[in-house]
Amino acid sequence: MKSIFVTGIGTEIGKTFVIRQLLHQFNQKEQAWSAIKPIVSGLSDTDMELSDTGLLLKAQGLPFTAANLEKVSPWRFQAPLSPHLAAEKEDKTIPFDKLIEFCRKAKSETGGGLLIEGVGGVMVPINRQYTVLDWIEALHIPCLVVTGTYLGAINHTLLTISALRSRNIAIDAIIVNESIHNAVSMDDTIETIQHFVPRLPCHRFMRQYQSSKAQHTFEFMS
Ligand SMILES: Nc1ncnc2c1ncn2[C@@H]1O[C@H](COP(=O)(O)OP(=O)(O)OP(=O)(O)O)[C@@H](O)[C@H]1O
Ligand SMILES: [Mg+2]
Repeated sequence: MKSIFVTGIGTEIGKTFVIRQLLHQFNQKEQAWSAIKPIVSGLSDTDMELSDTGLLLKAQGLPFTAANLEKVSPWRFQAPLSPHLAAEKEDKTIPFDKLIEFCRKAKSETGGGLLIEGVGGVMVPINRQYTVLDWIEALHIPCLVVTGTYLGAINHTLLTISALRSRNIAIDAIIVNESIHNAVSMDDTIETIQHFVPRLPCHRFMRQYQSSKAQHTFEFMS
């Protein structure tokens, strides 16, 4: 099974949310998928379990232990900043070669499919030399792009696709995750994206409210 990089058009767009749904769906089909979020910033000791790392561990049925934290998110920083700045605040840097090595090793150890969550959007700096775009390119794996329906999301989506295509990175699908401030309709958002990037699968992902039991089904990876 393959590895897929889950990126998005920015922070808080729904990457972790979508990954949790995918894991839920795959587990029901007894497909062996796991997920990692190698770099996480804005992590405080008090809300670890609600962090991306904590949520991904839970979605994989893994206990919240120090060893599992290392397995899912080896680069963890406290400041809620871009990784390069959050690392520098702690007098650290994220070594790009080690990051790539970690992702490859995670894939070889899973024996199944692997979802890798990025950080923010594709032009987020990892360190002073490399961005998320360099990271995806170095892994030679396809990606999913999570986007939204807020005013401006079409622009951010097309910019992201353009950046990915400039490096010949394969895009398996665009996932349009309904934004909380839903300024543009889902239909108009999808129709416009597909007009400018025909033949790219677009999946709609409606906002879920606590009372909603709706589950989304993704056919493109099954
Ligand atoms: N479809 C949805 N329905 C309900 N809540 C959602 C949905 N998508 C995202 N959210 C909520 O919005 C917030 C941001 O989503 P999420 O953490 O998945 O974004 P992200 O892109 O992973 O952010 P980051 O860049 O910090 O990793 C979370 O509280 C999440 O639970
Ligand atoms: Mg996330």
